[in-house]
Formats: sequence, C-alpha cells, structure tokens
Amino acid sequence: MPLVTSKEMFQKAYDGGYAIGAFNVNNMEIIQGITEAAKEVSAPLILQVSAGARKYANHTYLVKLVEAALIETDLPICLHLDHGDTFELCKSCIDGGFTSVMIDGSHHSFEDNIALTKKVVEYAHERGVVVEGELGRLAGIEDDVNVSEEDASYTRPSEVEEFVTRTGVDSLAIAIGTSHGAYKFKPGQKPELRFDILKEIEKRLPNFPIVLHGASSVIPEYVEMINANGGNMPDAIGIPEDMLREAAKSAVCKINIDSDLRLALTGSIRKYMAENPSHFDPRQYLTPARAAIKDLVKKKLVNVLGCDGKA
Ligand code: G3H
Ligand code: 13P
Ligand code: ZN
Repeated sequence: MPLVTSKEMFQKAYDGGYAIGAFNVNNMEIIQGITEAAKEVSAPLILQVSAGARKYANHTYLVKLVEAALIETDLPICLHLDHGDTFELCKSCIDGGFTSVMIDGSHHSFEDNIALTKKVVEYAHERGVVVEGELGRLAGIEDDVNVSEEDASYTRPSEVEEFVTRTGVDSLAIAIGTSHGAYKFKPGQKPELRFDILKEIEKRLPNFPIVLHGASSVIPEYVEMINANGGNMPDAIGIPEDMLREAAKSAVCKINIDSDLRLALTGSIRKYMAENPSHFDPRQYLTPARAAIKDLVKKKLVNVLGCDGKA
C-alpha cells in the first residue's frame, strides 16, 4: 500500500471515538519498533519527522525507511512533517514525498499565522497533501526553540473558526495544558488538561480533527530504568494516560508522542550496557531497545489511543 494522507484516518477516528498515534521517527530501529507494534495490533499510523530528525538522519533515508515499513507491514501509514516552521521546509517535504505537513505558525501573530498557514495549504492541497495548523502555544522544547511557561498560552476558542475557515487547514493543533519534553509539570504539581477549552473548540468546529502535541505520559518505568543505570533525571512528569484516553474519545484524532519513545530507547540501552559492560556490538543493545519501543507503542495503541484493529 502506498503512503496515505490522514484524511480518511481522521474521519474514522472522529466517528469511532479513538485517536491515531503520531510517533516521531529518527532512525531505523524506532521505525521498526513502531511499525512492528502497529502491524501486530492492526493499527493505522502517522510517522512524523521533525526538522531536527531530518537534519540528523537525512530526508531520503527517512523516506526510504518508511517506504520499507510500508512494504513490510502493508498498513495505512501517513508520513508527516512535525513542526514545520517555514513555507520552504513544508515545500521541501511536500516535494519530497510526505503526505502531510504541519505548519507551526503559533509563535507569529494571529494574522501572520493565517497568512503563512494559508500559503502552505494552497501549495499542499494542489499536490494532494494535507496540512495541520496550530493555534495557542505549548510550553517546552521543540528543536532549538524553548517556549517558557510564561510564553505558553491556551488556544482561544473564539479564534478557531476564523483560523480554520481562512486558512483551509485539515486539522488543528491546540494548547490545553500539554507540553513538549519530559518535564511537563513542576514537582508536586497536579497534571491538568483544560477539557473545558477542548469542549468549546469541539462545539465551534463540528466534525473537525483536533491534534494534541506534547502528549507523552513520561512512563515512570523507563525513567526509573534510566536512573537505576547511571542516569539522573529529576522529577519527570507527563500526561496521565486516563486523560489521553478521555481526549481520544473526543474530537482529538491525532496524539503526538516522542519523549516516551526516547525514554524507552535510552532506558533499555542504559540497562543493557550496565548489565553487559564489555559489549560493544550495537546490534546487541539496539535489539532490546527496538523491542522496548515496540512494547511501548503496542500499549499506547491499545490502552490509550484505542486505534487497534482500525487499519
Ligand atoms: O515536538 C517536538 C518533537 O518531540 C520533536 O523533537 O525537534 O528534537 O526532533 P525534535
Ligand atoms: P512529547 O514530548 O510529549 O512526546 O510530544 C511530542 C510532540 O508533540 C511532537 O510534535
Ligand atoms: Zn509537538
């Protein structure tokens, strides 16, 4: 099966009360772990590539690895640019075979965000590619941009209809309290999401797919594995899985997960190296690392997103 856009996936997810997992990919083992998990539970997938991933692994390598996953799994897979920040970057991914791009104009003024997003939508739609826009700012780290808590802001429901109508975007990322990275809440702070804002947005945008970024749960098992094997991660707190399950039943059709993958990969490599200090064949420590990714993703697809059996 060739790469697909997220159009049909989102419609089915919206109607069925579940969400599609959008997992960040940076290398072969991550792609294999995610796609093997999805194959086992028959789940559709969004594999997303950030500008940093593209810089690290090279556009062509990532596209070809995803094409290999298509051949191996025969799943519906959408290849998405995560946090595109310029028209040129989006254009390069559209021209280079991606089926979906995000143009993240959330750091611009409302009018500038609309102008930039509309330009990307026009280019993308002429080529059969779908576009995710963003309104509201998440705290946390994306590539080299660190958005402090003071600069983060919830999405204003009053702006969403105008943004979607004037830009023509196919989905909208919103800020309701999630944030990027492993440190989403201060130590002792109770994780909270603004479901009231989500409900208001749903009301204003009927039958329209919403996206949640910064949705890793920062699974304690992996943080503990890192810390038990020479790491030192202080008080990492993520989004509780029950909140994500609740969101997945609503208009939220895409849930972004990266940090949990990083933690699983790093935790298992640290554990392997601590237990086998004389080993130096990368295949030895990357085998359990890939298995950890697979195990994590399978649990997410079944227990959190509810998209198993929907491929
Ligand atoms: O939202 C950010 C994603 O986790 C990607 O992170 O830009 O470091 O690749 P990155
Ligand atoms: P996490 O850092 O919570 O995994 O978020 C990833 C993300 O939003 C990618 O765009
Ligand atoms: Zn993000």
